[in-house]
Amino acid sequence: MSKHTLLSLSDLTKSFGGVLAVSEVSFEVHQGSIVGLIGPNGAGKTTVFNLITGNYLPDRGSIFFDGRDISGMRTNMIVSLGIARTFQTIRLFQNMSALENVLAGCHCRMRSGIFGAMLRLPWQKHEEREAIDIAAGELEFVGLDSNPDMAARNFSYGNQRLLEIARALATRPKFLILDEPAGGMNDHETRSLVRIISQIRDRGITVLLIEHDMNLVMKVCEELVVLDHGIMIARGTPEGIQKDQSVIEAYLGPPGNDEDEDF
Ligand SMILES: Nc1ncnc2c1ncn2[C@@H]1O[C@H](COP(=O)(O)OP(=O)(O)O)[C@@H](O)[C@H]1O
Ligand SMILES: [Mg+2]
Repeated sequence: MSKHTLLSLSDLTKSFGGVLAVSEVSFEVHQGSIVGLIGPNGAGKTTVFNLITGNYLPDRGSIFFDGRDISGMRTNMIVSLGIARTFQTIRLFQNMSALENVLAGCHCRMRSGIFGAMLRLPWQKHEEREAIDIAAGELEFVGLDSNPDMAARNFSYGNQRLLEIARALATRPKFLILDEPAGGMNDHETRSLVRIISQIRDRGITVLLIEHDMNLVMKVCEELVVLDHGIMIARGTPEGIQKDQSVIEAYLGPPGNDEDEDF
């Protein structure tokens, strides 16, 4: 029996000026899986994410999520369908508290919205109370519940990444995409991130992540998709990808080139 396909990309293509950032990329993500999107810098990974989330419009190709064509949809519509993300460069409200940042994630599911909550009608008060419970729950889930009132800027870089994950989870997604979640984390933080990502999947949320930390990718992902110069050069299990000659060459250069990189 085939597994349910949650996300399906076919022939996805995007160029910027003369640069072909993503070229005819096709792959699927099955419901309940953790998939890694890897490849050298400039391979087109973040562009794939920006296409999925509606930040960029594809030149060609289609994106199906949960059976619906979402290519060309607005980002807030895509969030309401159940796709949440974090960013390669952290995007938090730096002067707002941890709890307020996560609440901003909840507001996309609320009837009253972020400003309507100020009117404080009884149903709005109830809705706001519920949102605070959800936000506090997500802070606890990522292990940041001890300082809910501290401004985001006062958290360590690694903890700011976890705060972004909590905010994404507060939108109650079916599908979470993480752009270099371990970037700037120390070994201890990376180990707890591995646990958190597995727990996210155990909650029934499908995960697609970009990551340079190969140790993390090998530990947490069941399947890897490899991009190089915008082209999908390989796809398979972490064990298979590690031995794939075209992947080794993409990271290390052709045989005879000794320059070491991330892989
Ligand atoms: N908004 C943009 N404008 C112009 N060029 C872009 C833009 N976004 C990405 N690119 C280019 O597309 C290519 C792929 O970039 P990116 O998707 O960020 O790679 P990765 O995330 O794999 O490092 C790079 O050559 C990058 O310079
Ligand atoms: Mg990137």
